[in-house]
Amino acid sequence: MSSDDGNSSTPGVSVAKEAAGPVPEQRGAVGEPVAAAAPAAADAYLSVRDLRIQFHTDDGIVKSVDGLSFDVRRGRTLGIVGESGSGKSVTSLGIMGLHRGARAKVSGEVWLDGEELIGADPDKVRRLRGSKMAMIFQDPLSAMHPYYTVGSQIVEAYRVHHKVSRREAAERAIEMLDRVGIPEPRKRFRDYPHQFSGGMRQRAMIAMSLVNNPELLIADEPTTALDVTVQAQILDLIRDLQQEFGSAVIMITHDLGVVAEVADDLLVMYAGRAIERGTAEKVFTQPQHPYTWGLLGSMPRLDRERSERLNPVKGTPPSLINVPSGCAFHPRCPYAALTGGSSDSVVPELREVAPGHVVACHLAEDERTRIWTEEIEPKL
Ligand SMILES: Nc1ncnc2c1ncn2[C@@H]1O[C@H](COP(=O)(O)OP(=O)(O)OP(=O)(O)O)[C@@H](O)[C@H]1O
Ligand code: SF4
Ligand SMILES: [Mg+2]
Repeated sequence: MSSDDGNSSTPGVSVAKEAAGPVPEQRGAVGEPVAAAAPAAADAYLSVRDLRIQFHTDDGIVKSVDGLSFDVRRGRTLGIVGESGSGKSVTSLGIMGLHRGARAKVSGEVWLDGEELIGADPDKVRRLRGSKMAMIFQDPLSAMHPYYTVGSQIVEAYRVHHKVSRREAAERAIEMLDRVGIPEPRKRFRDYPHQFSGGMRQRAMIAMSLVNNPELLIADEPTTALDVTVQAQILDLIRDLQQEFGSAVIMITHDLGVVAEVADDLLVMYAGRAIERGTAEKVFTQPQHPYTWGLLGSMPRLDRERSERLNPVKGTPPSLINVPSGCAFHPRCPYAALTGGSSDSVVPELREVAPGHVVACHLAEDERTRIWTEEIEPKL
């Protein structure tokens, strides 16, 4: 079931909401546009509505995130996929309230457990960061301070939210370093970040992100630079966190294999927008958007000859300063000519193609079905 389906629930998990909090998302019939600014879903731990993030630069305004909406419920993992530059990290930092600089303009709504964060006091958001929500950063160096030991940084992160002695916090930090697979954690606890290799630093940063058992975890490429064994260890650790605390997880990765393994729901981004969203099972087995078709075409498969495979997406991602008109994917889309001129003139809205499965594409249903059945499905 989709993360935006306001009617279903996660087994064993109940989420009480404040009276003033989000109300259930209103759903249109299949085929009707899904409103970007629909009210947040009542059973979602995180609801993002019409999020827009722009950067004012000397070259112009970069529209990094352009009207993004999605929900994540407790105990669920939402995978976010999309090419480099599609806005995944900017979205994550936006949820965490980390775009406070003058150049960034952030609008829309981010509801976390019934509290709206975009308009909230920055101090309040800072308190929630690290306690209720945490992020594993794509760049581990950005998360660790070079002048303090790795151990002391994890201790501090823990003590900000727990009234415990330094000694207790140190034991907790060492336990976390151990759990992320750092050998001799008691000794490495005293090292500075520069004394760690890239992979070790990434693990230490993961330990710091998880030390407070966050209820929302955003993992932005958490396993790049890690070998397969450690990667599996980290994914297990995130799964444990989720099972134990019912955490909502957002997993961002270029590795579609990882997404297929861990995600319950999937959001496909292109040029700062959602172009397809649904359960991971639906999006993997019955993708409906031409960009998703190309993305899945780039997934390594051992069981098929290259000639039998789908073609990966050709061309390069668009500029986010001069975003192509209409559907931003149209300059690269093999089917743009089949939409009677709408592809390069009208921005496609997300529409339900099946319950909980939404797609932003102008292709008529019979055309899409024909392409899917004749060209895509046999090669998927
Ligand atoms: N501080 C900033 N100032 C100007 N532009 C920015 C800034 N941060 C990000 N961008 C731009 O926003 C767009 C989205 O960037 P983002 O980092 O979210 O991409 P991504 O989807 O995470 O890519 P990757 O898969 O490579 O990590 C890019 O075009 C990037 O250049
Ligand atoms: S709207 Fe047009 S250009 Fe965009 S994905 Fe659909 S067919 Fe391709
Ligand atoms: Mg990124």
